[in-house]
Amino acid sequence: MEKYVIKGGTPLVGEVEIGGAKNAALAILAAATMSDETVFIDNMPDASDTNAMLQAIASNGAFVERVSRHSVKINASQIRNFTFENEFIKKIRASYYLLGATLGKHKSAGVVLPGGCEIGLRPIDQHIKGFTALGATLNTEHGIIYANADKLVGAHIYLDVVSVGATINIMMAAAMAEGKTIIENAAKEPHVVDIANFLNSMGANVKGAGTDVIRIRGVEHLHGTEYTIIPDQIEAGTFMMAAAATKGDVTIKNVIPKHLESISAKLVEMGCQIHESDDEVRVVATKRLQNTHVKTLPYPGYPTDMQPQITTALGLASGVSIVTESIFENRFKYVDELTRMGASIKVEGSTAIIEGVDKYTGATVSAPDLRAGAALVIAALTAEGFSTVEDIKYIERGYEDFEVKLRELGACIEKVNDDKEVQKFKLKNA
Ligand code: UD1
Repeated sequence: MEKYVIKGGTPLVGEVEIGGAKNAALAILAAATMSDETVFIDNMPDASDTNAMLQAIASNGAFVERVSRHSVKINASQIRNFTFENEFIKKIRASYYLLGATLGKHKSAGVVLPGGCEIGLRPIDQHIKGFTALGATLNTEHGIIYANADKLVGAHIYLDVVSVGATINIMMAAAMAEGKTIIENAAKEPHVVDIANFLNSMGANVKGAGTDVIRIRGVEHLHGTEYTIIPDQIEAGTFMMAAAATKGDVTIKNVIPKHLESISAKLVEMGCQIHESDDEVRVVATKRLQNTHVKTLPYPGYPTDMQPQITTALGLASGVSIVTESIFENRFKYVDELTRMGASIKVEGSTAIIEGVDKYTGATVSAPDLRAGAALVIAALTAEGFSTVEDIKYIERGYEDFEVKLRELGACIEKVNDDKEVQKFKLKNA
C-alpha cells in the first residue's frame, strides 16, 4: 500500500500553484449532466474523488473526454440510467449531488447512499427536506436513495442547519423546477457561489449565492457552456499552514485571497507575516508560532476542513491554544496519531486543548481521513527524524500531486510502496 515517507526539519520555501477546488468540481460535474449539450470544464483537479465522479457519470452513459489533465468535456444527453450505484459512486460522499442534478433534470433519480470521510454523523435530512418541498417523494431501498416527482415546483425552503451540500443540491434541483425557489439560511462557501455561476453560465437563473438567501427561477433547459473552476481554498490553506508550521516562506499562487481571509487572520495571530496580491498569498514564518484560539464555523468563518492543519501547527506554538470544532462532532480522531509524534493535546468533546511542544518527533502514523491526513504530513514535515504516513489514499481524494508540490518547496518526501522502499529512502537521506 502506498505511503509517504518523510524526513522532517526542512522549512518549506518557494512557490506553489494551487489547483481547482475539489468540492466545487464534484458538484459542477453533477450539474454538467443537467444539460444535453456539451459542457467544457477547465481547472479540474486530478484528484481521486473528482476522477471517481467522472467515472461514475461516464458509466451511466455520459460522454466524458479528458481534453487535458485539467480540462474535461462532458455530454450527458445519452444518460438513460438515472440510478447511480456503480463502483465509482460508492467511493465518494458527494455522490449525493447526482440526486439533486438528476432529479432536477429527469424528475427521477437514485443514488447509493453516501460514503466519504469518517468525520462524524453526516445526515442528509436537509437535502431531503428541500427535495420534498419541491414536490419529490423520497425513499430508501437496499442502500439506494430514490427521489421521484411528476414535476418539481419552486418552494420557500428554510434550512435548519447551514449545509453546503444541501444548499447546492437544492439549488441544482430548483434550477429546473417550475417557478421560484427561495433557500433561506443557505451556505455561503465559495464553492456554493461557483456552482451558482456554473449553473447561470448554462442558462439558469440563480441569484444571491454567497449570501444566506438564494433565489432561483427555474428554467426548462440548460445549455452547453465553457467554465473554469475556482481555486481550491483548502488546498491553498493547507500549504499556508505547512509554510507556517515549518517556519518557511511560501508564495501560494493561483488563489483568491478573499477566500483565505479567515486562515490568513489566524496565521497573523500566530505571528506569521502575510503578503497578499491579486491572486497570490505569501506566508512567512520566521519565529516560533504563538498560541491562539480557533472555532470552526460556516463560511466566512474558519473552515472545518482546515481544523486538523491548524491544530497541528498550534501543537508547536508557544502557550495553550484551544480549537473548537462546531461542524463535525468526530473530527479530532487524528489527535491520537499526533500524540504519538509528541503533541500534547487533550480532547474534551468538541474542544481540543493544545499545550504547545518544542518539536514533534518522527513516527509511523496513519491518515484517518483526507484533511487529517494532510495535517499529519505537515506534522511529519516539521518533525525530527523520519516519519511514515500510511493510508494516503485518503489524502489523494482531495490533493493532486501533494508530495510533488511539497518536494518542489524543498520537503524531503517520497511516495513509496513498501517497507523496502522506506528503508531505501532512509539510507539515501540519512
Ligand atoms: C461539505 C464539504 C466538506 C466540508 C463541509 C463543511 C463537499 C463535497 N464536502 O460537506 O469538505 O467539511 O461541507 O464545510 O463539498 N447536516 C445536517 N443535515 C444535512 C446536511 C448537513 O445536519 O442534511 C449537518 C452536518 O452533519 C454538519 C453540518 O450540517 O454538522 C455541515 O454539513 P455540510 O455543510 O452539509 O457538509 P457537506 O456538504 O457534507
